[in-house]
Amino acid sequence: MKKNVCENYEEACQAAADIFAGQLKQKPDSVLGLATGSTPVGLYKEFVSRSGAGKMDFSQAHAFNLDEYYPIRADHPQSYKTFMDEHLFDHVKFTSTRIPCGEATDPHIECDGYDADLEAAGGLDLLLLGIGHNGHIGFNEPASSYPLGAYMVDLTEETLEANSRFFCDGEKQPVNALTMGIGQIFAAKHIVLLISGAGKAEIVKKLFEGKLHTDIPACFLLLHPNVTLVIDKDAAQGIKS
Ligand code: F6R
Repeated sequence: MKKNVCENYEEACQAAADIFAGQLKQKPDSVLGLATGSTPVGLYKEFVSRSGAGKMDFSQAHAFNLDEYYPIRADHPQSYKTFMDEHLFDHVKFTSTRIPCGEATDPHIECDGYDADLEAAGGLDLLLLGIGHNGHIGFNEPASSYPLGAYMVDLTEETLEANSRFFCDGEKQPVNALTMGIGQIFAAKHIVLLISGAGKAEIVKKLFEGKLHTDIPACFLLLHPNVTLVIDKDAAQGIKS
């Protein structure tokens, strides 16, 4: 794994944006995998600003989002569809965007459809990942086995707790999600793992301690031939650069 340790979050977002800009220059119709959460917010700001300035062109690109809560209405303020519209898709034009549908009647049929769409697009050229405090990637939570294709997952207590900050008091938080599978993540030609903040230092230390922890989904990335870790100093405090 290549490591790019940046001074701060802003620099990390610039560095990650540079990788996406290079990818689009080389292949304007790239298939891009995208994440949600707090980590990519600065990166998406950068995409919007660079695209507005004519420095990045997403108009031929295809976007596949990693995950979505289930069930959730697409127009719910905390749906990942709403997040993506607010932070990126309302501002930057893509040829196509695909997010697992949180209001599908049958989640399994939706996952099969998502797999078929990703396969028809030719798989991911470049995938953006964040990491959960428990080492999840997408919504692949720690488990003893991992589906290769998209599937419905039970969110762990830790993830529900971490994400409860986004839901109003008393509001019913979805306990399931639809997520891209580990096989699809692993098949991406290039992965950018963007990590920021001291709160992630512990899981980052564990990830790089030289063991393949099968209960840390992010450990699969240690075996992938083309992952670029873009990390700020706060998150990287426990590892050698
Ligand atoms: C969400 C996703 C998750 C997040 C992870 C970190 O689409 O893929 O794996 O990347 O939960 O979230 P933040 O960035 O909020 O710490």
